[in-house]
Amino acid sequence: MAIVINEISRTFSEYLLLPGLTRKIHHPENVSLKTPIAKFHSGESSRLNLNIPFVSASMQSVSGSEMAIALARRGGCTFTFCSQPIDSQSQMIARVKNHKAGFVQSDSNLHPDNTLAEALSLRKKTGHSTMPITFDGSKNGQFLGILTDKDFWEFEDDLNGPVSKYMTPKEHVVFGALGISLHDANKLLQANKKECLPILDNNGHLHSLVFKKDYFDHMNNPDELLDNHKRLVTGAGINTHDYKTRVPALLEAGADVLCFDSSDGYTEFQKEGTQWIRSNFGKDVVVGGGNVVSGTAFRYLVQEADLDFVKVGIGGGSICITREQKGIGRGQASALMDVVNERNNYFKETGIYVPVCSDGGLSNDTQIIIALAMGADFVMMGRYFAMTYESPTPKVSIGGRIYKPYWGEGSNRARNWQRYNQSSETESGLKFEEGVDAYVPIIGSLREVLGVTTAKLKSTMCNTGALTLKEFTDSAILTRISEQSFVEGGTSNVLSLDKDLPREV
Ligand code: IMP
Repeated sequence: MAIVINEISRTFSEYLLLPGLTRKIHHPENVSLKTPIAKFHSGESSRLNLNIPFVSASMQSVSGSEMAIALARRGGCTFTFCSQPIDSQSQMIARVKNHKAGFVQSDSNLHPDNTLAEALSLRKKTGHSTMPITFDGSKNGQFLGILTDKDFWEFEDDLNGPVSKYMTPKEHVVFGALGISLHDANKLLQANKKECLPILDNNGHLHSLVFKKDYFDHMNNPDELLDNHKRLVTGAGINTHDYKTRVPALLEAGADVLCFDSSDGYTEFQKEGTQWIRSNFGKDVVVGGGNVVSGTAFRYLVQEADLDFVKVGIGGGSICITREQKGIGRGQASALMDVVNERNNYFKETGIYVPVCSDGGLSNDTQIIIALAMGADFVMMGRYFAMTYESPTPKVSIGGRIYKPYWGEGSNRARNWQRYNQSSETESGLKFEEGVDAYVPIIGSLREVLGVTTAKLKSTMCNTGALTLKEFTDSAILTRISEQSFVEGGTSNVLSLDKDLPREV
């Protein structure tokens, strides 16, 4: 007969944290959000840590190289999606590993015959007002000059005139030679009071640009997540079908951490996959897996499959319809607490600490905070990152507002990549979808969005008297809330400017 768990499946919004004693030392500036991603023995440190507890989901509409670079620069990690050919995923990883902080490939390039009007429309499209002019208009073409806002007057100059007439020509541009260090490039910018330094190769071709603002950005990013060679850390999603060819290619490209991407990870496939990786690449490779929703499944993956971290969550994702399609899943809070409890038991028994990641269904900053308080070492999010400028999808205007497409990996849209890639296994077997195709509003740059979330998290940690995420979860006292308390938690008995009254603008 079937076993029925009597406890209701609960989610994060049903809980609140009680404040603990805040001492004078509990100031956001003293809070560390560093967290382990690879398992470690008691008394030792993890082979890989994050500087902020956030990773982006292995999804086509979320995690490309731009996201990977931006997130690692803030201290988190991206898992590039594996629903693409092996060579293109490897190229994404290589792009991140080869990204030299400070040397930027120009994405706004003009041909000398382009008109000022075309320059303005390019500026509008890319948002960048520094536009190199190259002989053939390409990003690595022969460098002829540079056009910035300072070179023309939009309402005075002839918009049909060629940019070559307005640009600052090469002979008046201060540039650096390929091979120059970032330190020296910044010194050149400083000495010449410039905002941008083109870097040219021996043949006068444009290689990259160095911006003054990036120097300040770098100084403002003390959490940047770097490997031992000072390259950005990046992760990759993998699957249980083609790991024997995909994993070697991703590791060769420089991936720092791998993670099986599956809606149900309690399988012999993940066990065999991890064993294969361990026997071919050793114990040092950081490999995560999941997803699971029970302590039993956690133990299986850790003991039998030897994973470094385990992801929790089935059916909670914003674009996920697994629960209604297949009837499997569990409320995210209940699933997380069950797994964290088993993780703690395992630690007591073996002295091995296995990080747990709460994946999916986090619809606001409060839920992120509650997940971390409940014992998640880090959280994986899709929608949150899809809403930023750095996600790989184009902007779309719907009803006067700007959105970005966001679709599940279990949707036909995501699965279609295989049609163009020989493998017909999924194509012929595909009977139903587990994810939907949707839109999300754009809310800002990754920097802005993460800035708000980390500020709230640090502030809450101070309220509870914690300076580290470990102290936060060890001392967390949570209370369940009634529906009425939930309503009371929003605005009440007032007309809210945001919700009830029309805005004037
Ligand atoms: P979100 O942060 O709520 O948008 O959830 C993102 C998570 O949803 C991912 O990390 C995956 O675990 C999960 N996911 C991604 N695509 C699908 C899908 O098509 N069906 C079900 N779950 C999905």
